Amino acid sequence: MLCGGNISFRRLVPHQSTTRLKGADDCIPIHSVIRNRRIWTGTVIVMMIGGCVESQSVLHPASDDAAAITRLFWVMTAGAAVIWIMVFGAAIFATLAHRPKSSERTAEMVILGGGVIFPTVTLGALLVYGLGLLPDWGPSDAPDITVRVHAEQYWWRVTYESPGGGEVEAANEVVLPSGAVVDFVLTSPDVIHSFWIPPLGGKMDTIPGRVNLLRLRPNVPGTYQGICAEFCGDGHAFMAFEAHVLEPSEFERWFATQQQPAEPADPTAFLAAGCGGCHQIRGLVEQGSIGPDLTHFASRSTIAGVLDNTPDALREWLHDPSAFKPDVRMPGYAMLPDDELNAIVAFLEQLE
Ligand code: CUA
Repeated sequence: MLCGGNISFRRLVPHQSTTRLKGADDCIPIHSVIRNRRIWTGTVIVMMIGGCVESQSVLHPASDDAAAITRLFWVMTAGAAVIWIMVFGAAIFATLAHRPKSSERTAEMVILGGGVIFPTVTLGALLVYGLGLLPDWGPSDAPDITVRVHAEQYWWRVTYESPGGGEVEAANEVVLPSGAVVDFVLTSPDVIHSFWIPPLGGKMDTIPGRVNLLRLRPNVPGTYQGICAEFCGDGHAFMAFEAHVLEPSEFERWFATQQQPAEPADPTAFLAAGCGGCHQIRGLVEQGSIGPDLTHFASRSTIAGVLDNTPDALREWLHDPSAFKPDVRMPGYAMLPDDELNAIVAFLEQLE
């Protein structure tokens, strides 16, 4: 925790409470952080290394669309590097070369060539190249699967349309079959968010009152990191989710399980704490729709997109969700006795 003057920041990196800082004695004066060159260097290095994580990098594409974006990135980078070298070469030459003054005609030619013809040709070529990268989906192409993504402060409501009719709701992860054309139907009830899975393709905003469509075809099985790419409030940086791309047969198995109601389990502790007011568990607790559907909670890899889904982490989350996701709407349950909290954790972890 940082502190100093009347500034006090909540820690923003989620971790277990065994390392939680408690009390004012543990805080570091903020002015000493601002002046500390090692902290700044470390921060920059950590941010640069963070950009190298393959699961969230546009430079490790796992779909045709993402591969086109990666190609465009390298073409632009190479082009920019060549132009940068040319401009600086010319500047150095002009500064250092001792030669007689050019004629007015030569100067005009340089301005015309370097200031008009070269940028026009270069930008025109890049435009033609960029237009060629646009996906060629026709309006009549039907998707293999439609996934509705409702972005809310600060989580993702994900609804799959069943081929036989009906819907299956999940949260904070999208599971997709490899090789399938997926239509994401993107909406938001509150503010503008942006749905982005960098290794699978470009981002698309979710805008209140509008329905946006993003079509992707993931083709490399794996787990990829998705994130909200539009500032949407205090919890924006923690509005994360995972995208699991599975082999088609694995996806079929997963989807068949998700369509089933919840495992038989005793929801008494869950209901006694009032969790049913916000959360639905199909087959056990039917009323709540404000928060994520928890029918197959234990099959998800994360809690709220920010914590590994383990009993210890779930206990921490229930204790104080806002410690992991600032401004989250879910209240903390620190007032519950340990045995009641443990009973809720045990119940939720049964919901495979
Ligand atoms: Cu939602 Cu940023």
